[in-house]
Amino acid sequence: MMRTLPLFALVAMLACSSTSDGPEASATITAAPPDGAKLFQMQCTLCHGRDGKLGLSGAKDLTVSALTREQMILLVTDGKGMMMPYKNVMRPEEIEAVVDHVRSLRTTP
Ligand code: HEC
Repeated sequence: MMRTLPLFALVAMLACSSTSDGPEASATITAAPPDGAKLFQMQCTLCHGRDGKLGLSGAKDLTVSALTREQMILLVTDGKGMMMPYKNVMRPEEIEAVVDHVRSLRTTP
């Protein structure tokens, strides 16, 4: 009977150490970057549609846009034609996140 005790203690210790990294791992996920897909759905789908192809009020089809990332950031920041400027609506890092989402909609690289 006494010989089973050390083994049991060892198993209990292993079980303890394996559960202790749970809370630590989740605590490192803080300050998430802006969610570009969510912002796009709130700010841009009205004219561009969920897939970027809607083209209301003369909006361009975003899936075939040839603009660079920098040109898109400028266009979204300062606006163009029927499209309003977003510099007072979103923070620069939010505009960048939205632009990165727009670029992910494109069918050409
Ligand atoms: C009021 C309707 C409207 C909304 C809302 C809108 N857009 Fe636009 N967007 C337009 C129009 C119109 C154009 C074409 C502008 C032009 O070239 O005269 C355009 C053009 C663009 C272009 C350039 C495409 C190209 O290849 O020339 C990008 C990129 C773009 N929009 C992104 C966005 C993003 C990102 C949002 C949300 C933050 C957004 N738009 C919200 C109307 C809109």
